[in-house]
Amino acid sequence: MNIILMGPPGAGKGTQAELIKVAYPIPHISTGDMFREAVLNGTAMGKEAKKYMDAGQLVPDEVTIGIVEDRLAQGDCEKGFLLDGFPRTTLQAQALDQVVAKRGKNVEVALNISVPEEILLLRMSGRVSCTTCKAVYNTKFSPPASTGVCDKCGGELVQRSDDKEETVKNRLKVYQDQTQPLLNYYEQQGNLTTLDGNRDSVEVFKDVKAILENLR
Ligand code: AP5
Ligand code: MG
Ligand code: ZN
Repeated sequence: MNIILMGPPGAGKGTQAELIKVAYPIPHISTGDMFREAVLNGTAMGKEAKKYMDAGQLVPDEVTIGIVEDRLAQGDCEKGFLLDGFPRTTLQAQALDQVVAKRGKNVEVALNISVPEEILLLRMSGRVSCTTCKAVYNTKFSPPASTGVCDKCGGELVQRSDDKEETVKNRLKVYQDQTQPLLNYYEQQGNLTTLDGNRDSVEVFKDVKAILENLR
């Protein structure tokens, strides 16, 4: 299974990926998570990426394509992968096509999660995540039992630094300008499926599962 999760910031890509991972044992590769990890670890790549992330801009293609190619070359990706937040530009999509073509495969499905902008704004302003186990909550839609504390591990819940209102607006604009056009790319390849993401995440996942079952 070679699957891509697409959709604007806050659409629920990460949330669906967590559900997919449980049902299908393929690696979940989130470029956003990889960059945040590199920022936390203070690596040179993390320092470079942080400048763009804090501005709500895309990290340059050469950096992003490089880390994804390295990750896809690892053994656990041989049987398939679930990409979340990659590709986001035409160059990234072409690079991915080349990687899978070398293996005699193709991207099987691009799942596009569609959510109205006003809901995206609500979701991102309410998102908090655990500093320890990375579990994601929403103060408005799926709050933890105790404010600021992770239900799963007791860790501290914090807001993502790029979820500030101004940065969110930039991210949405960048999505519209640079990533939304990619939907056409996958439409033309005949593997784009758009889902209504403005429903309970469990309902959205039922549709995702029906699509993935068809691939097997
Ligand atoms: P990234 O981390 O990928 O962020 P994003 O695409 O902006 O998406 P998000 O993670 O914000 O949203 P999501 O769709 O995963 O939603 P989630 O499930 O968390 O990228 C961050 C940055 O890294 C980029 O801005 C860029 O700088 C850089 N970067 C990353 N990839 C790159 C690339 N390929 N090229 C260049 N640069 C790149 O849900 C959001 C909230 O809503 C949560 O609180 C959740 O609990 C809640 N929620 C989810 N689903 C539902 C639902 N159905 N109902 C109610 N609430 C819900
Ligand atoms: Mg995410
Ligand atoms: Zn936790």
